Amino acid sequence: MILDKKTVIDIQKADTSKISKIDFNNLSFGNVFTDHMLECDYKDGQWQTIKIRPYGPISLDPSAKVFHYGQAIFEGMKAYKDTQDDVWLFRPDENQKRLNKSAERLAIPEFPEALFFDGLETLLNIEKNWIQKEEGSSLYIRPFVIATESGVSANPAKEYKFMIILSPAQSYYSGEVRVLFADKFSRSASGGVGFAKCAGNYAGQFYPTKLANDAGYQQVVWTDASTHENLEEAGTMNVFFRIGDKLITAPTSDRILDGVTRKSILTLAEDEGIEYEVRTISVFEIEEAAKNGTLLEMFGAGTAAVVNPILGFSFKGNDYELPKTENSYATHFKNRITSIQTKKAEDKFGWTYKVRD
Ligand code: COI
Repeated sequence: MILDKKTVIDIQKADTSKISKIDFNNLSFGNVFTDHMLECDYKDGQWQTIKIRPYGPISLDPSAKVFHYGQAIFEGMKAYKDTQDDVWLFRPDENQKRLNKSAERLAIPEFPEALFFDGLETLLNIEKNWIQKEEGSSLYIRPFVIATESGVSANPAKEYKFMIILSPAQSYYSGEVRVLFADKFSRSASGGVGFAKCAGNYAGQFYPTKLANDAGYQQVVWTDASTHENLEEAGTMNVFFRIGDKLITAPTSDRILDGVTRKSILTLAEDEGIEYEVRTISVFEIEEAAKNGTLLEMFGAGTAAVVNPILGFSFKGNDYELPKTENSYATHFKNRITSIQTKKAEDKFGWTYKVRD
């Protein structure tokens, strides 16, 4: 047991490290994990002592509620190392707050802010060597909470496990992306859980996305569940459109994830005098803009990819290809955000957070 910052953290180190076996130049996203993981159990109405343990399987009763009712939430964040070997996070307070918004919606107890930061920063200090300095490198951070109480009665669990696992990542390149605008399936509905980062939101996308993949499209852009006429979210990311020089994205709501990259892009657009609108975007407007040549760009925005350009789309059997645009907003925002994240550019909004030793 050691006392770190104010939180007591029980640390057991791994006997050996896997790091020398890892080819950091050939990582595929989310498949390699560091030597340690963080766990914190909730029982008897409170979060217990945080433990850091060698990375490995956990044991749960087969009746644990997470397996049956999907009471599970997660976050995605990244850590970067600057030239002085200091470790930085990007707007981590946003992720910490969003985790607790998701928790509330899924009837999971909130995870306290101090435990989140003290635990995460202790884990990152132990795994510092896994954060590479090369261009595009980062350490993807996956905090999550699962319902561990055994018993298949359909009600909120009384026991949970909060965990953090870490995965080294390279610059995310998802290849050429063409998307299908959803005209039958939906990702979320008003009053539902679309804004929460809960496991089921992603599981529900797998089948329609598989159908889209089979038809030759890499992702689905989700439309509103009632009319399928308004564009809301792209796969696991928020979605932006550029018509002429104007940037447009849908307003967040209880159906749409309040993405950290999305809100950062809007702040940067404001800062740079790029005209933008946050409003409902209809499929017909985008089809019309594609036909008359004013639709210059579409891109997804999220933590993993930062910004992911979309080259074309299809709606109800009609395919549209976007032009090759010089001075692309997608490239510009990706570069500006990653250079702030990696401390190569001025952080005028105070978004970066230095991990405490
Ligand atoms: C993100 O990019 O923000 C994500 O959540 C991606 C993850 C589902 C792999």
